[in-house]
Amino acid sequence: MSTAAEPGRTWPLVGRAAELDDLDDLLSTAADGVGMTVLLEGEAGVGKTSLVDALRGSARLLDVELLTARASELRNWPFALLSDALLVRSGRAGRGPVEAELTDLLDAIYADPVRSVARHDRAAELFAALLRRHGDSRPWALVLEDVHEADAPSLEVLLQLAHEGAVPRALVVLTMRPVPYRPELAAAVAAWTRAGARYLELRPLNARATVELAENLVGSPVGPSLRGTLATTGGNPRLVADVVRTARAAGALVVTDGVLDSTGVAWLTPLDEVVRRRIEYLGPDVLALLGQASVLGTSFVIADLASLVGDPVGDCWRTLRHGLAAGVVRARGDRLVFGHDLVRGALYNGLEPDQRRALHARAAWALRQAGAPPQIVTAHLERAR
Ligand SMILES: Nc1ncnc2c1ncn2[C@@H]1O[C@H](COP(=O)(O)OP(=O)(O)O)[C@@H](O)[C@H]1O
Ligand SMILES: [Mg+2]
Repeated sequence: MSTAAEPGRTWPLVGRAAELDDLDDLLSTAADGVGMTVLLEGEAGVGKTSLVDALRGSARLLDVELLTARASELRNWPFALLSDALLVRSGRAGRGPVEAELTDLLDAIYADPVRSVARHDRAAELFAALLRRHGDSRPWALVLEDVHEADAPSLEVLLQLAHEGAVPRALVVLTMRPVPYRPELAAAVAAWTRAGARYLELRPLNARATVELAENLVGSPVGPSLRGTLATTGGNPRLVADVVRTARAAGALVVTDGVLDSTGVAWLTPLDEVVRRRIEYLGPDVLALLGQASVLGTSFVIADLASLVGDPVGDCWRTLRHGLAAGVVRARGDRLVFGHDLVRGALYNGLEPDQRRALHARAAWALRQAGAPPQIVTAHLERAR
């Protein structure tokens, strides 16, 4: 069973009973010899890794072999993901002829800067065969994490495999973030969806679970001030852990009558920095636009953002799509709403003072044009000074 080894995790997981049951059921089905595929999608830090880690205990109980590998843009050489999952761990001694041929083939592929189509095709064919046959002796589970960052040849193998239906006698779990969008990934996901894969969207924690997680992390009830900051995390467990850790590191936590609470505001500055680092992966264009949007408040009308930045609405949409897919902003009719006010605040506080004032002045103008009430326009004008 997993432990609290990773900072910020509490065990058992908070607010995930239903998802854990679902995964356990699927694992039992695979243990009975039926192939199952799960696509587990959720924003960064929502708890995908924690959830699939929890499979370890069940796999041991059911005597199901569990192989895992995590994709990363730092390991994006051909077949890195599949070779991490299927070759690295088996060690030279435990290797069959297919593994041996694959190992040599990959050595040749990595040694030769010129891409050989024949070698790539053969490697893809062998990986597919390995995946298909791995369950011949006993059922198994394969967890491929963060496939949004997977190397293209591994995704291609997964795509081809989907055309044959679920991997025999295996539970295959692919975890992914909705961004960055990649056509190779979209194609593989579509193929797996057609092949009957289960789609599991891991949603943020609700308000009660958010507080419960924080209380588990600090080991006591938490007071109103800290709850206020926790409420801005949008139920993202990683942000909850960031809040608690940053407050503690800054010495901003005090206990009164057994209740732990935060004091002062000094710790909110390092918290903003931590949060901004969390969303750096969205890239400068998306972050710049979201930063401008932060001036408009927690929710805003997309047309108002377009006039604020002076770009056509279509351009804004195209850029914001990534923020939407990442869950940083959510669509509500013609409005967009920041998913985590903590993130909006961090973006806002990250603006240069001059830029922030200029944006407020422009927002006043844009909102007046759009017919916003005078007090809203005035509030922006005040911040423009
Ligand atoms: N349900 C939960 N209960 C307790 N801690 C959690 C829960 N979900 C996630 N965490 C913690 O939040 C952080 C981010 O979770 P992680 O599983 O790494 O997210 P993801 O893989 O979706 O990016 C980790 O520190 C993790 O231990
Ligand atoms: Mg993860």
